[in-house]
Amino acid sequence: MVVDLDWENLGFAYHKLPFRYVSYFKDGKWDDGELTENASITLSESSPALHYGQQAFEGLKAYRTKDGSIQLFRPDKNAERLQKTAERLLMEKVPTDKFVEACKAVVKANADYVPPYGTGGTLYLRPLLIGVGDVIGVHPASEYIFTVFAMPVGSYFKGGLTPTNFIVSEDFDRAAPHGTGAAKVGGNYAASLLPGKKAKEAGFSDVIYLDPATHSKIEEVGAANFFGITANNEFVTPLSPSILPSITKYSLLELAEKRLGLTPVEGDVPIDDLDRFVEAGACGTAAVISPIGGIEYRGKLHVFYSETEVGPMTKKLYDELVGIQFGDIEAPEGWIVKVDQ
Ligand code: PLP
Ligand code: COI
Repeated sequence: MVVDLDWENLGFAYHKLPFRYVSYFKDGKWDDGELTENASITLSESSPALHYGQQAFEGLKAYRTKDGSIQLFRPDKNAERLQKTAERLLMEKVPTDKFVEACKAVVKANADYVPPYGTGGTLYLRPLLIGVGDVIGVHPASEYIFTVFAMPVGSYFKGGLTPTNFIVSEDFDRAAPHGTGAAKVGGNYAASLLPGKKAKEAGFSDVIYLDPATHSKIEEVGAANFFGITANNEFVTPLSPSILPSITKYSLLELAEKRLGLTPVEGDVPIDDLDRFVEAGACGTAAVISPIGGIEYRGKLHVFYSETEVGPMTKKLYDELVGIQFGDIEAPEGWIVKVDQ
């Protein structure tokens, strides 16, 4: 490895790598796409992505295994989710093969930046789809840019596997009922910036959003899904049309049941019934599994397992998931895609 970075302490920050992939949709078709060293995108000032938020993104990671190979975790699921988001925003879809090949090409071209095995670091991939071209009425674009760039990352939330606290937002929602909460669009994140800032200023890692219609049930975290573990070994996670369907969460639901013998439950998580959980966490690509020490709601901090130590079941889920992602534990069929080097 020629690159020398502080692999153990990467955090989650933009890092300009040598190569990214770019493809253009024009005159009714996608071009073949190519790798480029140009990290800037040039677009028309009237692009719908800029004015009307016609844009979507994804997040997935490449992992260095013990034998030095590199692998992706369920990239086809990210491709499918981007297609669903594209349907919601009337954007041109990126075919699954094109998406996965673009991810592989970016990883291969920047292979020196995939953190070494054992450092905890990964290469985070950010696929981005934007509507561009000369449109000024509220209409979908007829041209699109699909790009995939990458950066080496460590923990998203500062604690890593040490629990941190979260705070419920009652003043702000990230998504509307029947809005775009289930789509990975920038607007949801724009809406989360102000409550996220207030939460961080108050010493919390992020916000817990409640269902926008009744404010009585947990929806998700600003950048991750929520799960709780009950004393009778249920893995419980909210089911709602306005949360992002997390690939990590659906992977955990499966692993919880098939590998750890937990009962998987997707359903309502009333905010005034947190006592049912002996452990809780936030899960996502960037968040991995981040244990939730406590949730502050109406001035009271509800602590789950501990504010300082990860709970035993959360740790088991973490070890299983991360073991699979880094190639130490056998993956369910189809979950791992190797990248040629
Ligand atoms: N919820 C939100 C709002 C997110 O931004 C993310 C991150 O992608 C997730 C959940 C977790 O989804 P995934 O596990 O597919 O990364
Ligand atoms: C991810 O986990 O990939 C995300 O997109 C979360 C966040 C960085 C927005």
